[in-house]
Amino acid sequence: MTKPQPDSLTIRQPDDWHLHLRDGAMLAAVAPETARHFGRAIIMPNLVPPVVTGAEAASYRERIRAALPPGSAFEPLMTLYLTEGTDPADVAAAHTAGIATAVKLYPAGATTNSASGVRDIEAVRPVLERMAEIGMPLCVHGEVTDPSVDIFDREAVFIDKVLKPLRKKVPDLKVVMEHITTQTAVDYVRDQKKNLAATITTHHLVINRNAILAGGIRPHYYCLPVAKRESHRLALVEAAVSGDPRFFLGTDSAPHTDPMKLQPCGCAGIFSAPVTLSCLAEVFGAALRLDKLEAFVSLNGPRFYGLPPNEARVTLRRGAPLSLPERIETGEGPVTLFDPGFPLHWHVETEAP
Ligand code: DOR
Ligand code: ZN
Repeated sequence: MTKPQPDSLTIRQPDDWHLHLRDGAMLAAVAPETARHFGRAIIMPNLVPPVVTGAEAASYRERIRAALPPGSAFEPLMTLYLTEGTDPADVAAAHTAGIATAVKLYPAGATTNSASGVRDIEAVRPVLERMAEIGMPLCVHGEVTDPSVDIFDREAVFIDKVLKPLRKKVPDLKVVMEHITTQTAVDYVRDQKKNLAATITTHHLVINRNAILAGGIRPHYYCLPVAKRESHRLALVEAAVSGDPRFFLGTDSAPHTDPMKLQPCGCAGIFSAPVTLSCLAEVFGAALRLDKLEAFVSLNGPRFYGLPPNEARVTLRRGAPLSLPERIETGEGPVTLFDPGFPLHWHVETEAP
């Protein structure tokens, strides 16, 4: 007997623990899309130039606040982009002042705007040790950049070659392995007793690598880490719907304009913010685990970050299929929304601010 699944669900307002908002005209267009549904988000610092210092994060936070609709209570939680020149004292001061919530580690060359990232993890040890002392989390893009490593193996190799040794050397550092895509990562996170959690994106719960490559190449499904085979997607779904507090939502919603996606060397990134909650309700509903959605989107993340869950509530209601635009217009050009490939029936109702 299958459990009957509800047609409506009221949960604490979700947060997004990994989000790209960009800057300028793109920021103005996409910030309201996240603020409509989410209470807070961890904001990625991979602007050009990157957000490295506390002062840069404070000024980026002001630009984000200015892009929000009037009266919005959305709270951007800022990250600092870790470079080999990062000053541990600046990081600690930004954390104490409530400017920076976490630090972001991009292995140099791993993804969009990561050129100023870290080449030698030993070079940033003093920063990581300081963060461990003050309880400041490190968000990790967990892929090696060695060109000889197959792109589908880069996450698993990162765990062995970088993450395991790093966590041995700095065991008190709180680490978020971001946008995990493999059974290997799920198993590794499950094996660890403390100081390690993982975010999972909406799209990695929905697509596998066939979506990108079978029957024609589909750039709108290309992101990094690249989606893996179906068995990995199933492992991610199982982790997400399990209620295990070490797994929570980080959409990695990463807008690029269509001309930037649709070119011979297209950008990595999937813009999922407007459809994320509806997609997730479909995924959790299909797994007969709607009762675990609140843990994944609203409770587990704040718990790991040591923050209270949001007080506001959102209601998800199942109804007629949503009619969504294929793309939104931004001052920089059109941005295509993530298309999960199935109709979305879940409508999101938020409380008035
Ligand atoms: O697909 C991605 N897009 N992965 C990343 O790591 C970066 C992001 C972006 O900034 O576009
Ligand atoms: Zn990202």
